[in-house]
Amino acid sequence: MAGPMSSPPPLVLGIETSCDDTACAVLDGEGRVLASVVSSQLAHRAYGGVVPEIASREHLRNWTPVAREALAGAGAGFGDLDLIAATRGPGLVGALLVGLSIGKSLAYGLRRPFHAVHHLEGHLVSPFLDPDGGPAAPPPERFVGLVVSGGHSTIFAVHGSEVATVAETRDDAMGEAFDKVGKRLGLPFPQGPRVDELAERGDPAASPFPVPDCGASLDFSYSGLKSQALQAIERLERAGMRWAPEQGEEPPQPALDLLAGFRAAAVGQALDRLERLHAREPIPLLAVSGGAAANRLLRRELVRWAAERSVELRLVPLVYSGDNAAMIAHAALLRHRRGLADDPLAAEAESRIAI
Ligand code: KG4
Ligand code: ZN
Repeated sequence: MAGPMSSPPPLVLGIETSCDDTACAVLDGEGRVLASVVSSQLAHRAYGGVVPEIASREHLRNWTPVAREALAGAGAGFGDLDLIAATRGPGLVGALLVGLSIGKSLAYGLRRPFHAVHHLEGHLVSPFLDPDGGPAAPPPERFVGLVVSGGHSTIFAVHGSEVATVAETRDDAMGEAFDKVGKRLGLPFPQGPRVDELAERGDPAASPFPVPDCGASLDFSYSGLKSQALQAIERLERAGMRWAPEQGEEPPQPALDLLAGFRAAAVGQALDRLERLHAREPIPLLAVSGGAAANRLLRRELVRWAAERSVELRLVPLVYSGDNAAMIAHAALLRHRRGLADDPLAAEAESRIAI
């Protein structure tokens, strides 16, 4: 295992606690992930979604074992760290405060530079991480980032240190729509990956949904699609469909078809926005990230779309698609290389912040 002795400096500690994952990672100066530990909170399962107060308490409980495991995995002690980074937002304020306060204290106590990282900046640079422990690829001067998660569906245009928002969702995020449709069917939390899995077995043509148009804007909208899927479930139930997934029952074919149609429209919307952006100004490189970037259809379609248009594509490695701290440490490393740093005493957690 690579340890701090054999790794180029600076050794970066990343901390991420913006929602329901307690995460800690150590990267070396070339962006190699020496350790990345993510503890997903199971305590929310009983509620079918994330409960903010529970998230904060679980972060406090999980932090010590998660940090110990990350440091042990990297063969490092706190004293070996050169840079400290923590997510400052957006997210649940009580949850953010846990990781941010720990990061600020560590930076202050160890007298190391500190980075208060925007969560989406972490996702944006996550496709450049190597899942096999090699150095991170250097992000190019210009690229387009698509971030699709439980909280965001956003397209960014990156030019050096400038990040402009090209499009975002007007209502629900892509992952959120998957979660709500899955929840309505009684699937366990988190529903997105399960909807994706079931959709693989359905026929999208048997239950088609339209891709919404936001006029000339490239913005996303997922609440209309979500409502249409919920209404379609209602109709199937009125027609006699019964399915209790929590009791291990096999899904009926109409439910699988419905999920396949829903997924195809959700993915179709992302492709539609990219297509129109590419027509306006060719995309040099597309970096796709966020929890919903694990979606199998989205990954397949993006590979096809990018190859047909000779767009260079970087799909986030599956291990770094969901929330993790390696992406936060990576964003901090890139900021450090630009000569940036934050005052650990001044950094504040914020639930909603522009990038
Ligand atoms: O990035 P992430 O871990 O947390 C946020 O910042 O939101 O993303 C989690 C979201 C959830 O909504 C989850 O259901 C969704 O990503 N997700 C998926 C898939 N895997 C995770 N959505 C669709 N298909 C998937 N395979
Ligand atoms: Zn996220």
